[in-house]
Amino acid sequence: MDKSVEFTVPERCYIDGAWVDSTSGDRFESIDPATEETLASVPKLGAAETHRAIEAAEKAFVDWRARPATERARLLRRFGELMGEHKEGLAHLLTREQGKPLSEARGEVDYAQSFLLWFAEEGLRLYGDVIPSHRKDARLLVLKQPVGVCGLITPWNFPYAMITRKLGAALAAGCTAVVKPAEQTPLCGLALARLAEEAGLPRGTVNVVTGEAKAIGKALMESESVRKVSFTGSTETGKLLIAQSAATVKKLSLELGGHAPFIVCADADIDAAVEGAMASKFRNSGQTCVCANRFYIHESLYDVFAEKFAAAVASLKVGNGLDAETHIGPLIDTAAVEKSQRHVEDARNKGATILSGKEHASLGRHFFPPTLLGDATDSMQIMYEETFGPVAPLLRFREEEEVAKLANDTPYGLAAYFYGRDIGRVLRLAEALDYGIVSVNSGVFSSERAPFGGVKHSGYGREGARVGIEEYANIKYVLLGGIAT
Ligand code: SIN
Repeated sequence: MDKSVEFTVPERCYIDGAWVDSTSGDRFESIDPATEETLASVPKLGAAETHRAIEAAEKAFVDWRARPATERARLLRRFGELMGEHKEGLAHLLTREQGKPLSEARGEVDYAQSFLLWFAEEGLRLYGDVIPSHRKDARLLVLKQPVGVCGLITPWNFPYAMITRKLGAALAAGCTAVVKPAEQTPLCGLALARLAEEAGLPRGTVNVVTGEAKAIGKALMESESVRKVSFTGSTETGKLLIAQSAATVKKLSLELGGHAPFIVCADADIDAAVEGAMASKFRNSGQTCVCANRFYIHESLYDVFAEKFAAAVASLKVGNGLDAETHIGPLIDTAAVEKSQRHVEDARNKGATILSGKEHASLGRHFFPPTLLGDATDSMQIMYEETFGPVAPLLRFREEEEVAKLANDTPYGLAAYFYGRDIGRVLRLAEALDYGIVSVNSGVFSSERAPFGGVKHSGYGREGARVGIEEYANIKYVLLGGIAT
């Protein structure tokens, strides 16, 4: 490893401002998905240590909520600046632990940093209200107060950005947090704990616990002290958290699975649509909740689009993300490879043609070739299950109403994409698509300043943007009576 890009991460958890091991001494390994080499081992914490982290966060909350917003902003900004100062080291760590190509890893460090800097500013603008009164003797105030201790449960696909998108908002609002990074990417979570400490965040405001998802999740959900949980992950786990939240009436934000349609209308700019399709489908090797999962192409341009898309897919280089030429890194594990494989085989058995997709057997067990399927039909598994891999099925459509119906025919509602120029159709489709995010003539849309989140089984709550901080605030109505007139 080149020392100049090494970022040292303590191989311990961060609770109450101290680096700790599990009481049992149990540990688990972080594995490089490209080489299957062990990168490090980290503590396997359970319920007992999670309770300690919750207690630390509860204690720290008393002081943190009382600090001036400007002081919280200053510390958050410093946390963000440190991400920038360690950008290369953080990016290399991310590529090694998660697999994404280095150029994308650098992009994720910037993206993650943007949430800390954004919420440092938004925390200064968490305004309340003064309501025109209905009584002569009273004044009506609305205060926005931090919800309290937050449990932040994050996924492996964006192991920095999904933490900072939650943590930045929580800290800026005056909350404290217990962060549970995904089991596949604990080092990235601990790297952020190191920077939080270096930035001077008071002990207990940020706690990072690695270990068993079930035990830690249950401890967070059952705790009366944890007043909010924000989770990004599968719809299945999200539903479990909804059920578990009932006993303590916990506030939840859930960013769950997706099954994004990508529509190319008859008047679309084909080259731009191909470029957008590549960006949306193959970002992070197809492992994002907002990756296009099914492509509806107007019949008048299906053949040209398919040909150009196939050529672009064939030009993608698969390999270790540390190699500067790599476009597609490994998938996270063998289960992810098997799912992509199953979707391709099922589609082939049901009549799909392979327009692009060559084997890379020599690379290792976690690599899957970017694959383009032609002549897909609704009965194929890939048309209704989230793939989370680099496979793209193409279908033809004829009418606008028909395609809107097909696009909405899913329990999911996170992101949808379409390409077209007719202003009437653009507006009609943008309104008709039943999704939290609609991206028109663009394959990318994520930004710290825009609200991210879904509808239906894709969850509820919004992250980022002005509204992102509101998720961490309770609204209190104060009536001030007895005021002489
Ligand atoms: C996700 O896959 O959940 C996050 C993607 C993004 O923020 O763009």
